[in-house]
Amino acid sequence: MIKIAPSILSADFLKLESEIKSIESSGADLVHLDIMDGNFVPNITFGPMIVSQIRKVTKLPFDAHLMIKDPQLFAPLFVEAGCDMITVHAETETHLHRTLQFIKKLGVKTGISVNPHTPVDFLKYVGDICDLFLIMSVNPGFGGQSYIDSATGKIKKVKEIREKYNFNYEISVDGGVNDKTIEKVAGAGADIVVMGSYFFGKPVEQRKKIVEDVKNNLFHSETS
Ligand code: DX5
Ligand code: ZN
Repeated sequence: MIKIAPSILSADFLKLESEIKSIESSGADLVHLDIMDGNFVPNITFGPMIVSQIRKVTKLPFDAHLMIKDPQLFAPLFVEAGCDMITVHAETETHLHRTLQFIKKLGVKTGISVNPHTPVDFLKYVGDICDLFLIMSVNPGFGGQSYIDSATGKIKKVKEIREKYNFNYEISVDGGVNDKTIEKVAGAGADIVVMGSYFFGKPVEQRKKIVEDVKNNLFHSETS
Protein backbone atom coordinates (compact mmCIF):
# COMPACT_ATOMS: atom_id res chain seq x y z
CA MET A 1 0.00 0.00 0.00
CA ILE A 2 1.26 3.46 -0.87
CA LYS A 3 2.83 5.46 1.97
CA ILE A 4 2.20 9.12 2.66
CA ALA A 5 4.83 11.54 3.90
CA PRO A 6 3.32 14.94 4.78
CA SER A 7 5.89 17.73 4.46
CA ILE A 8 5.84 20.13 7.39
CA LEU A 9 7.05 22.87 5.03
CA SER A 10 3.37 23.78 4.66
CA ALA A 11 2.47 23.30 8.34
CA ASP A 12 1.51 26.15 10.65
CA PHE A 13 4.80 26.64 12.50
CA LEU A 14 3.06 28.45 15.34
CA LYS A 15 1.32 25.16 16.06
CA LEU A 16 4.07 22.78 15.07
CA GLU A 17 3.43 20.25 17.83
CA SER A 18 -0.25 19.78 17.00
CA GLU A 19 0.48 19.82 13.26
CA ILE A 20 2.91 16.94 13.71
CA LYS A 21 0.46 15.09 15.91
CA SER A 22 -2.11 15.47 13.15
CA ILE A 23 0.25 13.61 10.81
CA GLU A 24 0.26 10.73 13.26
CA SER A 25 -3.48 10.73 13.87
CA SER A 26 -4.23 10.93 10.14
CA GLY A 27 -2.56 7.55 9.66
CA ALA A 28 0.26 8.90 7.48
CA ASP A 29 3.49 6.94 7.50
CA LEU A 30 6.41 9.36 7.64
CA VAL A 31 7.20 12.97 8.47
CA HIS A 32 8.93 14.65 5.51
CA LEU A 33 11.44 17.33 6.54
CA ASP A 34 12.46 19.82 3.86
CA ILE A 35 15.87 21.18 4.81
CA MET A 36 16.93 24.16 2.68
CA ASP A 37 20.13 26.18 2.92
CA GLY A 38 19.50 29.26 0.78
CA ASN A 39 22.35 28.07 -1.45
CA PHE A 40 21.32 24.92 -3.30
CA VAL A 41 17.75 26.27 -3.32
CA PRO A 42 16.47 29.84 -3.05
CA ASN A 43 14.89 29.36 0.36
CA ILE A 44 15.91 28.63 3.95
CA THR A 45 13.93 26.43 6.32
CA PHE A 46 15.17 24.86 9.54
CA GLY A 47 18.05 22.83 10.90
CA PRO A 48 18.90 20.07 13.39
CA MET A 49 17.85 22.11 16.41
CA ILE A 50 14.20 22.19 15.31
CA VAL A 51 14.36 18.55 14.23
CA SER A 52 15.54 17.45 17.69
CA GLN A 53 12.65 19.38 19.26
CA ILE A 54 9.97 17.85 17.06
CA ARG A 55 11.53 14.40 17.56
CA LYS A 56 9.99 14.54 21.05
CA VAL A 57 6.39 14.69 19.83
CA THR A 58 6.11 11.72 17.46
CA LYS A 59 7.47 8.24 16.91
CA LEU A 60 6.92 8.36 13.14
CA PRO A 61 10.07 8.01 11.03
CA PHE A 62 11.69 11.27 9.94
CA ASP A 63 12.43 11.44 6.23
CA ALA A 64 14.97 14.28 5.82
CA HIS A 65 15.19 15.77 2.34
CA LEU A 66 18.44 17.74 2.32
CA MET A 67 18.33 20.50 -0.28
CA ILE A 68 21.73 21.72 0.80
CA LYS A 69 25.29 21.95 -0.46
CA ASP A 70 27.79 19.77 1.42
CA PRO A 71 25.31 17.29 2.88
CA GLN A 72 28.20 15.24 4.35
CA LEU A 73 28.88 18.12 6.74
CA PHE A 74 25.34 18.17 8.08
CA ALA A 75 24.10 14.58 7.76
CA PRO A 76 25.61 13.50 11.13
CA LEU A 77 23.83 16.39 12.86
CA PHE A 78 20.48 15.42 11.36
CA VAL A 79 21.00 11.78 12.35
CA GLU A 80 21.85 12.87 15.88
CA ALA A 81 18.70 15.00 15.91
CA GLY A 82 16.63 11.89 15.17
CA CYS A 83 16.27 11.51 11.39
CA ASP A 84 15.75 7.96 10.13
CA MET A 85 16.38 8.56 6.42
CA ILE A 86 18.75 11.07 4.86
CA THR A 87 18.20 12.01 1.24
CA VAL A 88 20.76 14.06 -0.67
CA HIS A 89 20.49 15.64 -4.10
CA ALA A 90 22.48 13.95 -6.85
CA GLU A 91 23.20 17.42 -8.30
CA THR A 92 25.23 18.52 -5.27
CA GLU A 93 27.53 15.49 -5.21
CA THR A 94 30.74 14.98 -7.14
CA HIS A 95 31.12 11.65 -5.32
CA LEU A 96 27.54 10.52 -4.78
CA HIS A 97 28.51 6.89 -4.13
CA ARG A 98 30.90 7.96 -1.39
CA THR A 99 28.28 10.20 0.20
CA LEU A 100 25.77 7.34 0.28
CA GLN A 101 28.38 5.05 1.88
CA PHE A 102 29.02 7.77 4.43
CA ILE A 103 25.32 8.09 5.29
CA LYS A 104 24.88 4.33 5.51
CA LYS A 105 27.69 4.19 8.06
CA LEU A 106 25.73 6.65 10.19
CA GLY A 107 23.17 3.86 10.64
CA VAL A 108 20.21 5.38 8.75
CA LYS A 109 18.50 4.80 5.43
CA THR A 110 20.06 6.49 2.41
CA GLY A 111 18.17 8.42 -0.24
CA ILE A 112 18.94 10.15 -3.52
CA SER A 113 16.83 12.97 -4.91
CA VAL A 114 16.85 14.38 -8.44
CA ASN A 115 15.63 17.70 -9.79
CA PRO A 116 13.11 17.66 -12.67
CA HIS A 117 15.81 18.08 -15.34
CA THR A 118 18.15 15.36 -14.04
CA PRO A 119 18.28 12.07 -15.96
CA VAL A 120 18.17 8.91 -13.85
CA ASP A 121 20.39 6.46 -15.78
CA PHE A 122 23.16 6.86 -13.18
CA LEU A 123 20.90 5.00 -10.77
CA LYS A 124 22.14 1.67 -12.09
CA TYR A 125 25.52 2.47 -10.52
CA VAL A 126 24.25 3.46 -7.07
CA GLY A 127 20.88 1.72 -6.74
CA ASP A 128 22.39 -1.01 -4.58
CA ILE A 129 23.28 1.40 -1.76
CA CYS A 130 20.16 3.51 -1.97
CA ASP A 131 17.05 2.81 0.15
CA LEU A 132 14.96 5.64 -1.28
CA PHE A 133 14.83 7.41 -4.62
CA LEU A 134 13.04 10.77 -4.38
CA ILE A 135 11.81 12.16 -7.68
CA MET A 136 11.22 15.89 -7.57
CA SER A 137 8.07 16.71 -9.49
CA VAL A 138 8.55 20.47 -8.93
CA ASN A 139 11.69 22.57 -8.79
CA PRO A 140 12.83 22.32 -5.18
CA GLY A 141 12.55 25.30 -2.89
CA PHE A 142 8.87 25.95 -2.28
CA GLY A 143 5.62 24.21 -1.47
CA GLY A 144 2.42 24.77 -3.41
CA GLN A 145 3.83 24.49 -6.96
CA SER A 146 2.26 22.60 -9.86
CA TYR A 147 3.22 19.03 -10.71
CA ILE A 148 5.62 18.79 -13.68
CA ASP A 149 4.27 16.10 -15.97
CA SER A 150 7.60 14.66 -17.08
CA ALA A 151 7.94 13.23 -13.57
CA THR A 152 5.40 10.52 -14.43
CA GLY A 153 7.69 8.95 -17.06
CA LYS A 154 10.60 9.26 -14.66
CA ILE A 155 8.75 7.28 -11.99
CA LYS A 156 8.20 4.48 -14.51
CA LYS A 157 11.85 4.56 -15.56
CA VAL A 158 13.09 4.37 -11.96
CA LYS A 159 10.78 1.42 -11.40
CA GLU A 160 12.12 -0.32 -14.52
CA ILE A 161 15.71 0.18 -13.34
CA ARG A 162 14.76 -1.32 -9.97
CA GLU A 163 13.31 -4.39 -11.66
CA LYS A 164 16.12 -4.79 -14.17
CA TYR A 165 18.92 -4.64 -11.59
CA ASN A 166 17.04 -6.25 -8.69
CA PHE A 167 17.36 -3.20 -6.47
CA ASN A 168 15.21 -2.62 -3.40
CA TYR A 169 14.83 1.15 -3.09
CA GLU A 170 11.45 2.74 -2.49
CA ILE A 171 10.30 5.33 -5.01
CA SER A 172 9.10 8.61 -3.52
CA VAL A 173 7.54 11.52 -5.42
CA ASP A 174 7.74 15.07 -4.11
CA GLY A 175 5.97 18.17 -5.35
CA GLY A 176 2.48 19.06 -6.49
CA VAL A 177 0.90 15.82 -5.30
CA ASN A 178 -2.78 16.37 -4.58
CA ASP A 179 -6.24 14.93 -5.34
CA LYS A 180 -5.80 15.75 -9.05
CA THR A 181 -2.31 14.30 -9.55
CA ILE A 182 -2.18 11.37 -7.14
CA GLU A 183 -3.72 8.92 -9.59
CA LYS A 184 -0.97 9.30 -12.19
CA VAL A 185 1.75 9.33 -9.52
CA ALA A 186 0.46 6.17 -7.86
CA GLY A 187 -0.34 4.57 -11.22
CA ALA A 188 3.23 5.11 -12.44
CA GLY A 189 4.59 3.21 -9.46
CA ALA A 190 5.31 5.55 -6.53
CA ASP A 191 5.70 3.76 -3.20
CA ILE A 192 5.68 6.99 -1.17
CA VAL A 193 4.06 10.34 -1.92
CA VAL A 194 5.15 13.55 -0.24
CA MET A 195 2.27 15.94 0.38
CA GLY A 196 2.75 19.46 1.66
CA SER A 197 0.20 22.10 0.76
CA TYR A 198 -2.62 19.68 -0.04
CA PHE A 199 -2.39 17.92 3.33
CA PHE A 200 -1.79 20.98 5.52
CA GLY A 201 -4.18 23.11 3.46
CA LYS A 202 -7.05 21.03 4.84
CA PRO A 203 -8.38 21.36 8.38
CA VAL A 204 -7.04 18.80 10.87
CA GLU A 205 -10.30 16.84 10.91
CA GLN A 206 -10.11 16.22 7.13
CA ARG A 207 -6.54 14.95 7.05
CA LYS A 208 -7.38 11.38 8.02
CA LYS A 209 -9.73 11.15 5.04
CA ILE A 210 -7.00 12.33 2.67
CA VAL A 211 -4.75 9.53 3.86
CA GLU A 212 -7.54 6.95 3.62
CA ASP A 213 -8.52 8.11 0.14
CA VAL A 214 -4.92 7.97 -1.10
CA LYS A 215 -4.38 4.52 0.39
CA ASN A 216 -7.66 3.22 -1.02
CA ASN A 217 -7.03 4.78 -4.41
CA LEU A 218 -10.19 6.87 -4.28
CA PHE A 219 -8.90 9.98 -5.99
CA HIS A 220 -9.37 10.15 -9.73
CA SER A 221 -7.81 12.85 -11.85
CA GLU A 222 -9.96 14.93 -14.18
CA THR A 223 -7.95 14.06 -17.26
CA SER A 224 -7.68 10.28 -17.00
C1 DX5 B 1 9.89 21.37 -2.26
C2 DX5 B 1 9.78 20.31 -1.21
C3 DX5 B 1 8.49 19.60 -1.12
C4 DX5 B 1 7.30 20.45 -0.86
C5 DX5 B 1 6.10 19.76 -1.39
O1 DX5 B 1 11.21 21.76 -2.38
O2 DX5 B 1 10.79 19.33 -1.38
O3 DX5 B 1 8.57 18.56 -0.13
O4 DX5 B 1 7.11 20.74 0.48
O5 DX5 B 1 5.05 20.63 -1.23
P1 DX5 B 1 3.73 20.54 -2.12
O6 DX5 B 1 3.09 19.23 -1.78
O7 DX5 B 1 2.95 21.72 -1.66
O8 DX5 B 1 4.16 20.61 -3.55
ZN1 ZN C 1 10.79 17.49 -0.03
